Amino acid sequence: MNQAPDYSPEFVKALFDEMSVSYDRVNRLTSFGFSERWRRQCVEQLSYKNSQLVYDLMTGAGEVWPYLLPYLPAEAKLVAVDFSAGMLDLAKRKQTTSIQDSRLSLVQHDLLTASDELEPADQIVCVFGLKTFSAEQQARFANRLQKLLKPGGSLSLLEISEPEFGPLRVLYLFYLKLMIPWLGKLLLGNPDNYRMLGRYTASFGNCSQMSECLSKAGLKVSYRRYFFGCASGIVATRPLESCST
Ligand SMILES: C[S@@+](CC[C@H](N)C(=O)[O-])C[C@H]1O[C@@H](n2cnc3c(N)ncnc32)[C@H](O)[C@@H]1O
Repeated sequence: MNQAPDYSPEFVKALFDEMSVSYDRVNRLTSFGFSERWRRQCVEQLSYKNSQLVYDLMTGAGEVWPYLLPYLPAEAKLVAVDFSAGMLDLAKRKQTTSIQDSRLSLVQHDLLTASDELEPADQIVCVFGLKTFSAEQQARFANRLQKLLKPGGSLSLLEISEPEFGPLRVLYLFYLKLMIPWLGKLLLGNPDNYRMLGRYTASFGNCSQMSECLSKAGLKVSYRRYFFGCASGIVATRPLESCST
């Protein structure tokens, strides 16, 4: 855990491109079903009534879609955003096979770049994407999120986190250092990639820093702890009269 993670977008993109083949399987097995539960809980923090545009940011292979799509109104659009071509290829495959939904579209985009490519949305969800952002990138992402929300719009973010309770912390470290790389190898992934993912998670800690950044960006923020702090999250709203920072 001593080596500092590399937060450069080029490195992170290449990491996810390479992990894309095994990510879904490894994630499902190493989380003992918690990933599915947390995705559902993250989605359920928001109301989608009258939504026209919803973003699933850092969509990966669209792991959140089965939880999100049933809540969206018939006329809403769900735009799934990611910068990894490998992950998006899998998402596209899912979109044309198991999840065929005309409301869904995919966009390849780096969320840390300033761009007008994405218009403001009513709701934003983002699951397991924050850990590969450094403190400075979290601040940049918070400002981007503020601009990506319509006034009155809301977001729900969630990330795996370090629990405060001793015995759970021991399990958590066992999970990060041993379980994930070992299962990654067993499921034909590169164990070094999964070890690297563990380093990002350990350095991330929890969502408190991101929560402060969103608050500074002008959003009304509420912090969430899931399963004794093994995951944490943020629900935030852009006030109607909020102005861009
Ligand atoms: C751990 S996966 C999460 C996938 C999915 N949301 C889930 O629930 O499992 C994180 C995703 O964030 C994407 N990502 C990381 N940094 C990004 C950035 N700057 N812009 C866009 N996508 C990014 C990665 O390519 C990867 O697919």
